[in-house]
Amino acid sequence: MSERVTFGLIGAGKISRSQHLPNLVRAPHIHLKTVCDLNADLVHEARRQYDIPHGVTRHEDLLADPDIEAVLIATRDDVHVPLAIAAMEAGKHVYVEKPLAETPEECRRIIRVQEKSGRRLAVGFNRRMAPAYQLAKRIMASHGGARNLHYRISDAYFIWGKEFGAAPGTRIIHEVCHVFDLLCYLTGSEVTSIYCAAARDDDESMLLRFANGAVASVLSSGYATYDMPKETMEAILELGSLTVSDCVELRTFGLDDYQPVHRFAGHVHPERDAIHSELFEKMGEEAMIQLRRIYYEKSTRLDALRATGGNPALRRQLEDDLGHHAPMINYMMDKGWLHAVDHFAQCLLKDLPCELATTEDGLRAARITQAAIQSRREGRVVRLEEPKAGLASQTRTVRIDASDSARRMPARTKSAAPLSGGIL
Ligand SMILES: NC(=O)c1ccc[n+]([C@@H]2O[C@H](COP(=O)([O-])OP(=O)(O)OC[C@H]3O[C@@H](n4cnc5c(N)ncnc54)[C@H](O)[C@@H]3O)[C@@H](O)[C@H]2O)c1
Repeated sequence: MSERVTFGLIGAGKISRSQHLPNLVRAPHIHLKTVCDLNADLVHEARRQYDIPHGVTRHEDLLADPDIEAVLIATRDDVHVPLAIAAMEAGKHVYVEKPLAETPEECRRIIRVQEKSGRRLAVGFNRRMAPAYQLAKRIMASHGGARNLHYRISDAYFIWGKEFGAAPGTRIIHEVCHVFDLLCYLTGSEVTSIYCAAARDDDESMLLRFANGAVASVLSSGYATYDMPKETMEAILELGSLTVSDCVELRTFGLDDYQPVHRFAGHVHPERDAIHSELFEKMGEEAMIQLRRIYYEKSTRLDALRATGGNPALRRQLEDDLGHHAPMINYMMDKGWLHAVDHFAQCLLKDLPCELATTEDGLRAARITQAAIQSRREGRVVRLEEPKAGLASQTRTVRIDASDSARRMPARTKSAAPLSGGIL
């Protein structure tokens, strides 16, 4: 049996250039044979940079290649559905970027095709595979589960309406879907109701109730500045608690069988400076905050110099510092992108159950998203219908080889009773 799965990549845009291209070529269980994009220049550039054997501009040509066993779809969200369907009908396994589709109805279309085709599909909710969240999941599992969580996910003045002319709530579809999937994965439970209040477009606060009695609040904002960590989680467990800061640091409180601080190396892009990776492993959150601050201050200074046309030498220096060798500010952390694609390939090779989000998990995220947007619009709690049997989230935990700095100490704090059912 081959030791690598032959992949084709459809879509060579921003996320592929920052993640999928470099990750697919270095993933131990993947051979990237073909890259496809409507834009021939992007195909040419990707092939040149990563030495990819083939390039095409029509996805039909990629899908017609019998050597290609799996495709990674990294196009914009509105074409995930036709491409995922075409790929499975052509006999390919699929890893598709999040969200699986923009509505539950479209997710169900994909599920029907998947059932007929017998192909495997994983949704790119990569945070599941971030070493920090893998450790968080293990800690939660051994301490009675998470009862009460808070998650903040924010961006530096990135307003979907302004950027894409999108309707209010679009940030929830495209960004917060990651958090909905992660919270279900970590709690091992299903969302039964949600309330969403908006301060303004792309500035929302949500309250979620889970079937096992857990609750979570989610703060989503497009109005932060990027010196602020993009995302943090706080989780109160049955006994004790933990926090995760931007995937670089996990702290435990009141848990005497885990060290209080765990730090995680950053994600490295082969074309960019990599010192951040080691700094994160040594200094965790402090290094991440200082790096964010440095880049924020430099880019603010550069913007001011560009506006006034002043000091060309300093402007050139700042352009160089922030140029294409600098780490990408929101892609410096290890949010699990590489582990996710390689884990998918390993599952295909060994026919193993997969830790990644399935089509049903993609549908679940779309249903929560739809309920959140409805709640936002109508100003009331929206209940989600009971999930059908077989749609429960996966609760197993896979151990990642990456640098989780966990060194377990003798256990004293033990799991408590399982969570009881709850109604909002
Ligand atoms: N997991 C993450 O962390 C993460 C981060 C950012 C974006 N994303 C997701 O990745 C996807 C892509 O986002 P992006 O920012 O890279 O978009 P993008 O617009 O930069 O790139 C999309 C590319 O797909 C190409 N394309 C469109 N239709 C095609 C077709 N039929 N055949 C071949 N190529 C086609 C376009 O030409 C474009 O180059 C989105 O679904 C987004 O939600 C995920």
